[in-house]
Amino acid sequence: MEKWSGKTAIVTGASAGIGDAIVRDFVKHGINVVAMARRMDRLESLRDQLKDEAGKVIPIKCDVADKASIDAAFEKIEKEVGTIQILVNNAGICLMADIFGEDDDKTDEIFTSTININFLGLVRVARKSFKLIKKSEDYGIIINIGSVFGHISSSDYALNVYPGTKHAVRAVTESMRQELNKLKNSKIRVCELCPGAVITEIGRDSFNTPEMKALIESGTIPILKSCHISQTVMFILITPYEVNITEMIVKPVGEKY
Ligand SMILES: NC(=O)c1ccc[n+]([C@@H]2O[C@H](COP(=O)([O-])OP(=O)(O)OC[C@H]3O[C@@H](n4cnc5c(N)ncnc54)[C@H](OP(=O)(O)O)[C@@H]3O)[C@@H](O)[C@H]2O)c1
Repeated sequence: MEKWSGKTAIVTGASAGIGDAIVRDFVKHGINVVAMARRMDRLESLRDQLKDEAGKVIPIKCDVADKASIDAAFEKIEKEVGTIQILVNNAGICLMADIFGEDDDKTDEIFTSTININFLGLVRVARKSFKLIKKSEDYGIIINIGSVFGHISSSDYALNVYPGTKHAVRAVTESMRQELNKLKNSKIRVCELCPGAVITEIGRDSFNTPEMKALIESGTIPILKSCHISQTVMFILITPYEVNITEMIVKPVGEKY
């Protein structure tokens, strides 16, 4: 990891779960992190907790569902931070609703925000980040966080458009790779990391019931911790610059999906 020490990363969805774990590992390895999310209180608390680490945390508020918010955040990053070398495109939501369920505003809002955050937001953040990586003239990497649901769509839960957005993340990651290939002397890699089940706040509808908690605690339902996904990010980063892990799936042993 020494080669990344002193470099700068953007991590979206840094206020919880997998994003929070990645920020913690990055700063331990001397990487400065622009930590992005909507909940600034959480980002500021993370910065304060990690103030003695080798890298520093720079909290920046950003709603990735809102183009104007992304534009404003990147204007700030360019002015206050300059260039970057790493993007972890991690922000995401997964809310329960049946596709053929209630035809109401709440359900429609779930579909719209899932697409806007998980897919459109990810693409917009990648486009903005690419410019800052390119400007650095250094080696760079974009890691898009997909899901096992980018490979399958079946589930016991009403995941509605969530698997669709993750299939789209998988497709657009390959489109990004193809485009980067066409650039002359591109030093930027792109990778999709697809976690299986991880115990975070995203599963509050499905994992956080007393029955599910008991099944997880007894080991009946296997589940990863956020630090396992963060360790996989570190593994991707330690590969030599000429090696592109284009896609990686990480499941707990015994996962159903
Ligand atoms: N946990 C799993 O089982 C699992 C499995 C496969 C893939 N994943 C993927 O892993 C990624 C991280 O999920 P997680 O499990 O760590 O979930 P989490 O604990 O709920 O964290 C989600 C993060 O995304 C941020 N976020 C949500 N909406 C946002 C918005 N509009 N703008 C900016 N940030 C937003 C949240 O921050 P704010 O609310 O503060 O904005 C939070 O920091 C997601 O892409 C998810 O699809 C998770």
